[in-house]
Amino acid sequence: MGPGKPSTGRKSLGEAPREAGQRIEGSGFKSLVDLHSHILAGLDDGSDSPEHSLRMARAASSGGVSDIVATPHFDLDTVSVTPASIAAAVEELNRALHSEGLRVRVHAGAEVRMSAALTRPEDLPWPLRELTVGGKGDYLLVDLPSSEYLLPSDEAFFRLQLAGVNPVLAHPERNRLAEDDFRKLASLRDRGIALQVNAGSLLGSYGSKVKRIAWKILEEGLALLVASDAHHPGNGSLDLAAVGRSIAARLGEETALLLLRDNPRSVLEGGALQQPEGFSGKGGYRRSGRRR
Ligand SMILES: [Fe+2]
Repeated sequence: MGPGKPSTGRKSLGEAPREAGQRIEGSGFKSLVDLHSHILAGLDDGSDSPEHSLRMARAASSGGVSDIVATPHFDLDTVSVTPASIAAAVEELNRALHSEGLRVRVHAGAEVRMSAALTRPEDLPWPLRELTVGGKGDYLLVDLPSSEYLLPSDEAFFRLQLAGVNPVLAHPERNRLAEDDFRKLASLRDRGIALQVNAGSLLGSYGSKVKRIAWKILEEGLALLVASDAHHPGNGSLDLAAVGRSIAARLGEETALLLLRDNPRSVLEGGALQQPEGFSGKGGYRRSGRRR
């Protein structure tokens, strides 16, 4: 899908926002898609053994996840992982999951670090498609260092879009740009860059400041995706159903399902993303009708 492809649209949220902490009896937190996980053993700073990978998959499955995109860190300037090594690790893990009878499937992906190399996707040592989510060529997960918004980023996002790839920006709430310039996030969103917030940020795993920013991004309707970014089996964010209930308590179950199930599945399948309704923070949903 190229940038700007119209979405199929989504009906407005018809319910009033719930009070924070109010229990939601939703049963819809199934078939969730975790788009960002360091579940593959030995490829980065995530899982360090096949047993840890299995434990992560079990925890995800218990938390309503049916599909996990394995996204090892991928630095184009110091390549230590290749698309072939990711594909081999995914195949091995899927075999192990199958023999355990676990109903969760792992897909290949990568978390590509922003660098000048991304401004020249045609010069990469592999077809860009091989780094995209599920190898389908539609969406690429990109991360920035937490300390700064890198100079090549805007051009790289544009070049990716010209190449027909939709960038997904991982955990912007952990980058200083969110702290310093919230309008920048809105402008990225408006240019078709999908913002993915970490479940752990919403839970407070990175501190109260990141938590506040992460919730604000959701309340403003800027995020299209929430994922675990889990690195080890003890990571609480693997339970996406629990995270979904927290989101539902503040923003409604429809928004929670959009962020954790429907939009992530569209990324996996190469479909269009839908824009959640924004929340003004002052007493109600904003019905902007914006669609990506
Ligand atoms: Fe990550």
